[in-house]
Amino acid sequence: MDNWWFFPHLNAFLNGLSGVFLLAGFYFIRNGQRERHRAAMTTAVAVSAVFLTSYVTSKVVIGLDSVKFTAQGPVRWLYFFILITHTVLAALITPFVLVTFWRALKGKFEIHKKLARIVFPVWLYVSVTGVIVYLLLYQLFPGK
Ligand code: HEM
Repeated sequence: MDNWWFFPHLNAFLNGLSGVFLLAGFYFIRNGQRERHRAAMTTAVAVSAVFLTSYVTSKVVIGLDSVKFTAQGPVRWLYFFILITHTVLAALITPFVLVTFWRALKGKFEIHKKLARIVFPVWLYVSVTGVIVYLLLYQLFPGK
């Protein structure tokens, strides 16, 4: 683990960064700036791909269950609620993100818009909760 200490911080940073581009992309399309929307969303997808690569690499080199959440009380329930919803939704939403992206690239904006109305809030939830899990596990309640 010692050599790979940076991975959780890097992963949380990439996770948060894709969320920032996601929010920017939403802001742009709501203001009619289609080209900026395209650029921001493409960056969000690219950063997420880098995140996924880094995340899988970290699981391979560090191991699957290296850090335990040790805090007790209500925060423990909160942590596991966020962790489980984050993980399940992350797995579910990934193919839909790609379909939403692909539809836009193909110029099928009607179907893109319909999908995006569901995909956007779920993806944002996954992104924000990823950072919250990191903060709870590594910053606010680090194990001894
Ligand atoms: C996975 C990445 C993307 C997500 C999550 C996303 C999300 C969204 C959202 C939330 C909307 C607004 C829907 C509404 O009006 O309620 C939208 C609209 C739109 N998006 Fe994307 N977008 C993505 C990628 C792209 C890309 C790459 C392009 C350009 C090639 C694009 C072009 C557009 C256009 C033109 C609209 C307006 C459609 C219309 O009003 O008819 N989007 N998108």
